[in-house]
Amino acid sequence: MWGGRFAAGPDEVMAAINVSIGFDRRMAKQDIEGSLAHVRMLEATRLISAEDSSAIQGGLNTIASEIREGRFPFREAYEDIHMNVEARLAELIGTAAGRLHTARSRNDQVATDFRLWVRDAIDAGLDQIGELMSALVDKAIAHAAVVMPGFTHMQSAQPVTFGHHCLAFVEMFERDRGRLRDARARLNESPLGAAALAGTSFPIDRAMTAKTLGFDRPMRNSLDAVSARDFAMEYLAAGSILAIHMSRLAEEIIVWSTAQFGFVRLSDRFSTGSSIMPQKRNPDAAELVRGKTGRVIGSLIGLMTVMKALPLAYAKDMQEDKEAVFAAADTLSLCLAALTGMIGDLTINPDRMHASASAGFATATDLADWLVVQLKMPFREAHHVTGRLVKAAEKKGVDLTGLTLAEMKAVEPQIVESVFDVLTVDSSVASRSSLGGTSPDNVRREAETWRDKLKLQ
Ligand code: ARG
Repeated sequence: MWGGRFAAGPDEVMAAINVSIGFDRRMAKQDIEGSLAHVRMLEATRLISAEDSSAIQGGLNTIASEIREGRFPFREAYEDIHMNVEARLAELIGTAAGRLHTARSRNDQVATDFRLWVRDAIDAGLDQIGELMSALVDKAIAHAAVVMPGFTHMQSAQPVTFGHHCLAFVEMFERDRGRLRDARARLNESPLGAAALAGTSFPIDRAMTAKTLGFDRPMRNSLDAVSARDFAMEYLAAGSILAIHMSRLAEEIIVWSTAQFGFVRLSDRFSTGSSIMPQKRNPDAAELVRGKTGRVIGSLIGLMTVMKALPLAYAKDMQEDKEAVFAAADTLSLCLAALTGMIGDLTINPDRMHASASAGFATATDLADWLVVQLKMPFREAHHVTGRLVKAAEKKGVDLTGLTLAEMKAVEPQIVESVFDVLTVDSSVASRSSLGGTSPDNVRREAETWRDKLKLQ
């Protein structure tokens, strides 16, 4: 492509360090889309003849089908996807192929291809996150009233409903979608026509190519257009937060499925056995979702390190951007599919959850609140009285419902029978009907709202 001023070919090591076709072939579809938009614009602005344009378009379409059918000869000798396509075009249509690169450089070409690729990855990711959210919403509806212990510091805190716990993750994943949508809106500008870095003297129509490729507008500065990779970093940053959220859900599944907790059971489809311990059902898929978070965050850190302090405009360092993004997209997609499958298949053990919620004096706050409301006690004093009642129950080896009224009166004489109404975990969750609270009614309403919202998308 630049033979004019070179007498010798590249050293073997030079070729080895330079070649990118092994990975940027994944942008073949986007590369052809970009070239088709470019050539139509060259024809419309009379920069090339209608004849050459249709020969080039025909050739590009042939290449597109060769790629789809796995017949395209990807060749390392042509370094990257852009030169592979152009070289193949020359083989197919001859000299007219040489006119395609008019008013274009690989610098704006690669920036265009990569934006299109990331945009597709975001769209696919949004759909997959939606599926995971739907799986969680289904569980929330099915188990809106199932009581489980809620934890702080991983210590029993207050009872919550399983549906409420599921919907907490739905909220997190919705924000992940928001971040990806924001990134998509910002990246959706066309670098095409920025050429190498300075723009071009040809009377091109950048608005036309932008529109053809579904971009909202052309980018306003040619230097920025070829240098910017913040769109890729933003995708990886949003993806990293998504991966972190997935790891937290995976961790819950791992803990809940232990024999000690016994809250949930993973299906056979998402468990593995041990070759030596026959009793084992290992949550490998959940552990790998948790573990793969490192790869996604690693991609973000890797690309940020590549971009840090890089002078304008293009530098070959930036060829290092793609593998990070491809790998992260693959990992995110796999983890989303695995989690969606695990959640869909998950069976829960409501009795076990209920029993566990009842242990650990989880309704102590309800008792304190009762003292405040019924006996008009200041909360601090109620907290103290409740502490003494918990101590009495602990001594007797029962939970709060296991104390007799007489035993309670020994601590606080004003206590009456109706206190027992607030001491069960069911009454506790039912009473938490404040906005965003865990009551089954709230959960049902929220889950139905989510179900409608997800259906509409
Ligand atoms: N393969 C290159 C990349 O991914 C394409 C751009 C090459 N541009 C250049 N001036 N060498 O960045």
